[in-house]
Amino acid sequence: MIKAGIIGIGSMGRGHLNNYLKFMEENKGIELVAICDIDENKFKNYKADFNIGNMADGEFDFSKFHCYLSVDEMLEKEKELDMVSVIVPTYMHCEITCKCLEHGINVFCEKPMALNLEQCQKMIDTAKKYDKRLMIGQCLRFWAEYEYLKDCVETGRFGKVISGYFFRGGSTPVWSYNDWYHKKELGGGAIYDQHIHDVDMVNHLFGLPEKVVSIGKNYYEGSNYDAVSTNYIYKDGAVINTQNDWCEATGFAALYRVNFEKATVKYENGELLLADATARNGKIDPDFKGTSYNKVKVEGIDPYAKEILYFAGCIRDGKPIEFNKPEDSMDTIKLVHAEIASCDKQGEPVEVK
Ligand SMILES: NC(=O)c1ccc[n+]([C@@H]2O[C@H](COP(=O)([O-])OP(=O)(O)OC[C@H]3O[C@@H](n4cnc5c(N)ncnc54)[C@H](O)[C@@H]3O)[C@@H](O)[C@H]2O)c1
Repeated sequence: MIKAGIIGIGSMGRGHLNNYLKFMEENKGIELVAICDIDENKFKNYKADFNIGNMADGEFDFSKFHCYLSVDEMLEKEKELDMVSVIVPTYMHCEITCKCLEHGINVFCEKPMALNLEQCQKMIDTAKKYDKRLMIGQCLRFWAEYEYLKDCVETGRFGKVISGYFFRGGSTPVWSYNDWYHKKELGGGAIYDQHIHDVDMVNHLFGLPEKVVSIGKNYYEGSNYDAVSTNYIYKDGAVINTQNDWCEATGFAALYRVNFEKATVKYENGELLLADATARNGKIDPDFKGTSYNKVKVEGIDPYAKEILYFAGCIRDGKPIEFNKPEDSMDTIKLVHAEIASCDKQGEPVEVK
């Protein structure tokens, strides 16, 4: 039985809590033992304000768990934890993750990995030093529709990628602890927090580009770039771009559209669609009138549950983290930093190094 703890039960933490409760109900071999949050109000039941459906909703019986208001106290008293989920504001990821690793606990830490590359490196080095596993919650890598896309790119079954567009946008988060989301030095704004999902997907699918060209706009006072558009410059010339914002009046949407030589794959309005383009074959053919989109059915469990089950499974089986390695998450941070530098220079190309 893997014994787990949660640090941070704000909005996303409550989502993780729901998943741990499900794991216990379904006998997945994971037992949630301890919960820590600095804010005692979080140990009360309330309707969480959150933009991911009803993920964080629920009436929780906190008396079933060892509850703490301090990470230090939790680490001092809990001697049997195999893993913790660190779901605190981004500026605390490095410090809390390293503390847990130093206490011999494997850490699943939410995205974005940390605020800068030095912190990312420290997290990786600490995991190595204490011989513990570290994984970052770059959940799109576990998302069925994005797994399908990864498979299309990797197998080459529709030929090479010609172009790809990735969008993620919505209204801005309003629920956070001391409003950390809107403080550039604490959360990094939309370009750092929300955009990181698509940046990580670009890294996962195509690797790091040579350069990026980004335009960004700050909208909320004190925040960072709250709207960004980026082109990724690759040697093979594929036209890859992303767009992201926190500026929509209300709601949230995420989509992609990728043109391969022999097909277009797109994910829109929660539907995965495929249109065949084999007949076109890179030529202008007056007889090729295009084909229609067909829905693709993909199987997959909740990606937030899947990433935790993968992580816990590696601990149980004594295996290293071979998928979604922390080094990959650090590369994604490298990429987003290049985008910020390009925005700072109003769209000048910036090398990714
Ligand atoms: N993977 C995703 O799709 C996704 C979605 C939303 C948020 N997130 C990430 O999850 C993390 C948390 O986001 P959130 O929306 O839940 O924020 P939040 O502000 O709602 O919650 C943060 C919680 O951490 C607690 N906290 C602060 N300092 C602490 C400390 N020293 N010790 C213990 N607890 C402490 C706060 O009291 C609060 O309850 C962020 O890194 C965010 O980027 C990921």
